[in-house]
Amino acid sequence: MKVLVATEKPFAAVAVEGIRKEIEGAGYTLDLLEKYTDKAQLLAAVADADALIVRSDKVDAEVLDAARQLKIVVRAGAGYDNIDLAAATAHNVCVENTPGQNSNAVAELVFGMTVMAVRNMYNGTSGTELKGKRLGIHAFGQVGRNVARIAKGFGMELSALDPYCPDAAIEEAGVRPVHSVEDLYRDNEFVSLHIPATAETRGSVGYDLITLMPKGGVLINTARKEVIDEDGLTRALEARPDIKYVADVRPDCADALMERFPGRVFFTPKKMGAQTAEANINAGIAAARQIVAFLRDGIDRFRVNKA
Ligand code: 3PG
Repeated sequence: MKVLVATEKPFAAVAVEGIRKEIEGAGYTLDLLEKYTDKAQLLAAVADADALIVRSDKVDAEVLDAARQLKIVVRAGAGYDNIDLAAATAHNVCVENTPGQNSNAVAELVFGMTVMAVRNMYNGTSGTELKGKRLGIHAFGQVGRNVARIAKGFGMELSALDPYCPDAAIEEAGVRPVHSVEDLYRDNEFVSLHIPATAETRGSVGYDLITLMPKGGVLINTARKEVIDEDGLTRALEARPDIKYVADVRPDCADALMERFPGRVFFTPKKMGAQTAEANINAGIAAARQIVAFLRDGIDRFRVNKA
């Protein structure tokens, strides 16, 4: 059995070694395709793979067609919007993610970028502090919970919106549940986005919500660029010179925003929320173990597509 790790954005070397240990320890072969620049490289590499580990790498119908022996693909991470689930089901391929394994890394970056925003991108001028300020957590999954944990250390007041999470679970984490998206944006100087990119959420955060934010509002996006209505964001930044937008996911209109709103926007050059040795080790090794459990014992606990 051959397991292919295909990562356009590679794991830390120490994580690859951990993955290798799991895969070879189970008697399988590990193949590595890192930093590929062309889809053709991926199509060639998957041809004889029985299992595939990816990050944000696109696994579409063409990749699945090329991967004739593929039985399972594990997205080492949380969001699986890069994988065509219906096509995987049609190809009889199990799709899994590794929930929670990289969430602390993403949550830490939320504060890296938030502090940078309130300290005026470290330009030497006087900024503000996070202590005593209100933070709204838009979706209370694994990253949202880690954001809440860290925000408490900063002394922030917390609320969260998540229709899929019971109020009791939010309250148990010391966070106030809110039930309307308008309330979340109206009541918080800081809003941190943790919604997945789905048909329901794409383009769902735009002018109307962003301009509800109180004076000095900062919107932090470590989720997906697709959840933002970029035209609405641009108009909101135009209408509200006090608002800032920092994102780990470069919008399509990044260059225009940086030119028009200098000092008020920041974008990482490449998605790097989960780019830590720890997150790579956690997610990569979890992916490898899930593959072994699936191939050896038929366990599909983290399956996200229909069988
Ligand atoms: C995730 O969904 O797990 C994060 O966005 C990390 O994505 P990455 O593996 O491409 O860094």
